[in-house]
Amino acid sequence: MDFQFNEEHLMIQKAARDFAQNECLPGVIERDEKQQFPKEQILKLADLGFMGMMVSPDYGGAGMDTISYVLAMEEISKVDASVSVCMSVNNSLVCWGLEAYGNEEQKQQYLTHLARGKKDGELHIGAFLLSEPEAGSDATSQRTTAEDKGDYYLLNGTKNWITNGSSASVYLVIAQTDVAKGSHGINAFIVEKSWPGVTVAGKENKMGIRGSDTHSILFNDVKVPKSNRIGEDGFGFKFAMKTLAGGRIGIASQALGIASGAYELSVKYAKERKAFGKEIMQHQAIQFKLADMATRIEAARLLCLKAAYEKDQHVDYTLSGSMAKVFASEAAMWVATEAVQVHGGYGFVKEYHVERMMRDAKITQIYEGTSEVQRIVISRSILK
Ligand code: CAA
Repeated sequence: MDFQFNEEHLMIQKAARDFAQNECLPGVIERDEKQQFPKEQILKLADLGFMGMMVSPDYGGAGMDTISYVLAMEEISKVDASVSVCMSVNNSLVCWGLEAYGNEEQKQQYLTHLARGKKDGELHIGAFLLSEPEAGSDATSQRTTAEDKGDYYLLNGTKNWITNGSSASVYLVIAQTDVAKGSHGINAFIVEKSWPGVTVAGKENKMGIRGSDTHSILFNDVKVPKSNRIGEDGFGFKFAMKTLAGGRIGIASQALGIASGAYELSVKYAKERKAFGKEIMQHQAIQFKLADMATRIEAARLLCLKAAYEKDQHVDYTLSGSMAKVFASEAAMWVATEAVQVHGGYGFVKEYHVERMMRDAKITQIYEGTSEVQRIVISRSILK
């Protein structure tokens, strides 16, 4: 077993770290407060090749491995989790889904631009539309319908909590085509935001990751060409599950980054702040908190890297991805909460960043499969 990163991994980690410090840190508090989408940052990430990191260069991607993706996600999430969720959705849910299951025509028409994150010099990213007002964890209960009309499908329904909802140009939409067939009557479609009948509804006012744009998307008699269905008829639910399995590595890495960022700030603060005549790092109460933070972060990192390694080796990573997601997101919530405690009163004000990290951490336990859903996936896998 080799725990060393290669030269390329270290280079990507450094590039992501520099990007986070130079491009994400300035203005991160204001973007959070104003709920401002980090468009400038995403365009620069696109220039770095980080919006389609794992996509083959044949389709406009950077051709990197999943380990590199974990490293980049961690570094960017240390500073701005609103930037990293946008990056994660485009990389894991949109580009990966299209590269793995799209046909050649779909890849040429859509993936080549999405992987670059730009089209004609403008921002060009995607979103993944599975969740609905009444179908979140229970993803087979899709109410959005796509009625087969011969050479097109007629799409109707509402999707909720869609990351990149207004900034995306292309949506991967999961919809019911035959209710009687249950999960086998679900399909996935490529839908362009500009098509008639597509409406981006109100922006959510969120607790955390406030810079990312989360919307409901409404479909009213949207004509989707047959050629925009992904895979064989009835493949949509499996498409969603397989795509989410990789997405969970991205969110686990995001959680890892939030935890690492909160921990690093806590160590710095503990070395500077004095109480009872000495730096607070000299008090065992703080030392033990830092020791527990570091241990949980290391365990989360190893789980993320194991899942990434398995994905790169083309072995089934569903179990390791879910383990990484549930552990890293719970670690992030715990570490960020402890980071606020280490900072005392300063932790409760915005300038010290850890209160934002605590708010940002929460969603990692919910989106791309709640902690409870991850435990369903894990227990089914170990008990089968
Ligand atoms: N790979 C391949 N096939 C899979 C699969 C996987 N990982 N998981 C399930 N399937 C298949 C099953 O084998 C089954 O197929 P057969 O009928 O042929 O055997 C079919 O799919 C149905 O599976 P289940 O019976 O297991 O389905 P279920 O109703 O019990 O649900 C679940 C299982 C794990 C709870 C699933 O519904 C789930 O993952 N829910 C959570 C959804 C989710 O993560 N939502 C997040 C929204 S996206 C988001 O947050 C994006 C964003 O913007 C940030």
